[in-house]
Amino acid sequence: MSHRNVANDEQSRANVSTRPAPPPPPVASRNGKRADESQSESSAHSAPQHSLRVLIATQEFNEFRILDRIYTEHPELGIKTIGWCDNGINLYQAAIDGDADVVIVDPETRSFQHEDVQRLWIYPKKPIVTIAAVPPQSGLANTLKQLGAVDLVTRPLTERSAHELVAKCHVGVQEALRYRASVGYIPQMDSKTAQVIASRGWQQGVIVVWGPKGGVGKTLVACNLAVALGVIGNRRTVLVDANMAGGNDHHHFYQSIPQTQLGKNISALADRALLHARYGPIQPSATGMLGQRPILPSDEVDAHLFRYGESQLKLLIGIPRQHMGGYECFSEENGRAFFRELVASLRQFEDFIIVDIGQDANVPLHLAALEFADYVYVVVTPDRSSILATREALDTLFKHVKLARSKFRLVINRYHDSSGISRAEIVKALDMPEIATIPDGGPAVSNIVNSGKPLMMDHRGQVADGIISIASTIYPPTRDIWMNRGKLGKKPQAKNRGALGNIKAGLRWLVLGEGNKP
Ligand SMILES: Nc1ncnc2c1ncn2[C@@H]1O[C@H](COP(=O)(O)OP(=O)(O)OP(=O)(O)O)[C@@H](O)[C@H]1O
Ligand SMILES: [Mg+2]
Repeated sequence: MSHRNVANDEQSRANVSTRPAPPPPPVASRNGKRADESQSESSAHSAPQHSLRVLIATQEFNEFRILDRIYTEHPELGIKTIGWCDNGINLYQAAIDGDADVVIVDPETRSFQHEDVQRLWIYPKKPIVTIAAVPPQSGLANTLKQLGAVDLVTRPLTERSAHELVAKCHVGVQEALRYRASVGYIPQMDSKTAQVIASRGWQQGVIVVWGPKGGVGKTLVACNLAVALGVIGNRRTVLVDANMAGGNDHHHFYQSIPQTQLGKNISALADRALLHARYGPIQPSATGMLGQRPILPSDEVDAHLFRYGESQLKLLIGIPRQHMGGYECFSEENGRAFFRELVASLRQFEDFIIVDIGQDANVPLHLAALEFADYVYVVVTPDRSSILATREALDTLFKHVKLARSKFRLVINRYHDSSGISRAEIVKALDMPEIATIPDGGPAVSNIVNSGKPLMMDHRGQVADGIISIASTIYPPTRDIWMNRGKLGKKPQAKNRGALGNIKAGLRWLVLGEGNKP
């Protein structure tokens, strides 16, 4: 996955504000030609044929009035105000509808949406740059810069600001066009921006992926959800393979995991926890007093995790052999205590803990995971046996184990219209909010899993889109990042494939979003 070069980008933007005001610069025209190419004979003081279109979003109408008067009286400045917007909710649409090149935004404008700065910047037709109008010495200046504003102007906006803004608007637009035309441009929200955007509106948490039927796609969902959050969303994420019937998650990452890492698995860690619980921690730093250190210190947990490339995703590998699920460290109280301590330790440093468990809720570790989860994402397939088994298991969990119904969410996997059971019927039967429906991707999906690289890394399509729907319920910016990821990438040329090839290509296009639409 490629990232926008934030450092260079930030630097080039910082340069904008320190550069002296240039002579009236060439202005980008609607048809992509530069104004100086199309109007060489126009006089220095007449209005450029294609003035920059500027939308002003401030609390004070008077500020708009001052700017509007000056730019109307001095068309030679090459700026045309297209309107005033006093409600942030309307800002994005007003800028698009008005074909704006620049928005001058007071971030204290009612209902201003932080993400609009980036949405405008990556608007496919052309970049729409934001200049922030902030009070002097306001902390908002920094935030707006981080969000991607190309420059700043001090409020209140006066005649002086109107003149100051001329150079800022022209230079900002030119820089943006130059950057858009460069190979470095990837229309992706950079991680820093996503973090600022996401400073509100999401919560850290433990998400357990479960379903009482085998083979319904729990592991596929858990692994790719973790990739969506930890790699695409760039949040600190740990995937815990806690399936006591045998760990499978590492197969999805097999290409990257060295053999030596396989020994550092959940069983090795649970053993350490048991040892510590019995005899106290045995680190050199321990003082020998029982209870001095937790039974699962964070450094020890971290030493058992595998980091996926340079990303924010880590994996706790599951038990490599099924019989290990019967080890003492996982039995009854030990299993429960281990999971409680593991979560407590991971919560200190990670944003999201995604746990893949096996189908059997009677296994102590699985039950502990269901109990300690903030959310349980229940995976069902559209067949009677899966739906009925799920309903029955949930009834028991709600009635006898007293798990809170409110934390359960539904994921319908391998859905297809011809299954004879509609989504609405499944939702009604299970009586919980549905967060995503993932289509059946057929054998192509197993093929990708067998390749040892997670599906989300290289494939776009309806299965991946379904995973993004789930991820965005946990961390909303994931959807925007995904939507804009690699948009400028060229599709491969259509090949002459023959009839069978066309059918195969059609399937791959439909499900995985690869290649040309047949
Ligand atoms: N949406 C899908 N489209 C096509 N194949 C899928 C889809 N979801 C899962 N599969 C395939 O179904 C098989 C079982 O999936 P997975 O291992 O994720 O299920 P599981 O519920 O974790 O199974 P278990 O109960 O054994 O842990 C795998 O081969 C996987 O590639
Ligand atoms: Mg599984």
